[in-house]
Amino acid sequence: MVHTIVIFGASGDLTSRKLIPALYSLHQKGYLPADTQVVGVSRSVFSSETWRETLKKSTSQFASSFKEEVWADFEQRVHYVPGDIGKSEDFVRLRQELHRLEAGAESTRVYYLSTAPTLYPDAIRHLGEAHSVAIEGINEAPLLGNEHRRVVIEKPFGTDLGTAQDLNAQLHGVFSENQVYRIDHYLGKETVQNMLVLRFANSIFEPIWNRNYIDHVQITVAEEVVVGRRGGYYDKAGVLRDMFQNHLLQLLMITAMEAPVRFSADLVRDEKVKVLRAVRQFEDEDLLKNTFRAQYEGYLHEEGVPQDSDTPTFSALKLHVDNWRWNGVPFYLRSGKAMSCRTTQIVIQFREPPHLLFSGDRHSTWDANQLVIQIQPAEGIQLQFHTKVPDAGMKLRMTNLDFSFSREFSGSMPDAYQRLLLDALTGDASLFARSDEVELAWGIIDPITEFWKRTQKPHIFGYPVGEWGPQESNDWIEQDGRRWFDVCPILH
Ligand SMILES: NC(=O)c1ccc[n+]([C@@H]2O[C@H](COP(=O)([O-])OP(=O)(O)OC[C@H]3O[C@@H](n4cnc5c(N)ncnc54)[C@H](OP(=O)(O)O)[C@@H]3O)[C@@H](O)[C@H]2O)c1
Repeated sequence: MVHTIVIFGASGDLTSRKLIPALYSLHQKGYLPADTQVVGVSRSVFSSETWRETLKKSTSQFASSFKEEVWADFEQRVHYVPGDIGKSEDFVRLRQELHRLEAGAESTRVYYLSTAPTLYPDAIRHLGEAHSVAIEGINEAPLLGNEHRRVVIEKPFGTDLGTAQDLNAQLHGVFSENQVYRIDHYLGKETVQNMLVLRFANSIFEPIWNRNYIDHVQITVAEEVVVGRRGGYYDKAGVLRDMFQNHLLQLLMITAMEAPVRFSADLVRDEKVKVLRAVRQFEDEDLLKNTFRAQYEGYLHEEGVPQDSDTPTFSALKLHVDNWRWNGVPFYLRSGKAMSCRTTQIVIQFREPPHLLFSGDRHSTWDANQLVIQIQPAEGIQLQFHTKVPDAGMKLRMTNLDFSFSREFSGSMPDAYQRLLLDALTGDASLFARSDEVELAWGIIDPITEFWKRTQKPHIFGYPVGEWGPQESNDWIEQDGRRWFDVCPILH
């Protein structure tokens, strides 16, 4: 069985910065299935040779370890076929070209849609049509239900529930669900996968991973960058659609899910979906109390941003997962641009001990144990616990047990796309979002964006670039007797 990955959007940013460097690294490590070929498609005029030359430059810049001789070997696998997603005849020609490259052998083919989302419907329809026409000399199984034909969809998957449902319906007209791989690159990160290992391959955490021991959970995805040249796109999306619907809710699911019976795609995703189903639906009054929004100072002067934009660049949500494990344990989710530093972290804040023997130094929950899981850019885990300060009576201090991936394991951490591309090629969808998952996630986000639009509430606070959001976001969480974990990554 030969493997072919067809990248639509061959001349684009994602292809040169992430996809080709990831495929190159997989080749370098010997992980790519034998006989894998990479075929790029876009309208730009390249020959296979000129595309390889362009990719060589970008890959030498973006791959973690670039070697001329490895590239020379890898580039033999790389081909370019010019084509326009808007033209159905180009898909028929592509199919003929793929047949030629695969020399008529049985193949696994992954169609990767790395283009603007507006092009997904045409690409899906034309793929379907091109596979339904008879082409002389080509004898292939039909596309629908053929597990050796897969499609990878980049984020964003829709802009709300309605558009996500439409896109799912279009996909299901051509592919069955097990052929569809919806990317959320957070799931390809080693640290996110390690959350599953931490929880389900150790017996010491799971017994306390519940409402009896946990006071609350904080999930922060902070970006240091401002919107820059993405202003036009960003202003239509805002932080909820850009970060919460996908990355933050994925991290919530991984943190809150029950152990699957087996580590297989559907069983893992069944458990994740149950978490989203348990997220409490809010009435207006709750939306006002449990959502917070802000915009960084200077956002209105960014290129492509309207002068009167009310798009939030920072938001915080307090969500409740209404099930036996999590009843009464709020999940505080927060993300923003122009923040103090780039960090993604999950903080499990444990409760105070039931009886405080050494209460002199203790004031509130935030003095209790914390498990901090750092996802990026530092990757590791910290357990914070009290220790007696020597020779100081019964004075206590918070100290850490640290685990850092880079200290523990040699070699650089692979980029998330390596894992995801390999899984798509080998047919493991565990780390990709399923249709119901994506729709449920929009079902959580849409009522919030609609409430904000309809009521113009809550107030949009401003915050200076380079801070942890506005001071009011501290007041917001402190009303609950809790405090944000505002710590830039310290694990190296
Ligand atoms: N860049 C990132 O870091 C990043 C991160 C996460 C997700 N994504 C997602 O990945 C996707 C691609 O992003 P990108 O940044 O790579 O976009 P991009 O740089 O704008 O590239 C778009 C690609 O689409 C091709 N294209 C446009 N119209 C076409 C047509 N009619 N037929 C065939 N090809 C066409 C373009 O090539 P021609 O003009 O030559 O046809 C180009 O190769 C988007 O969905 C984006 O949201 C990107």
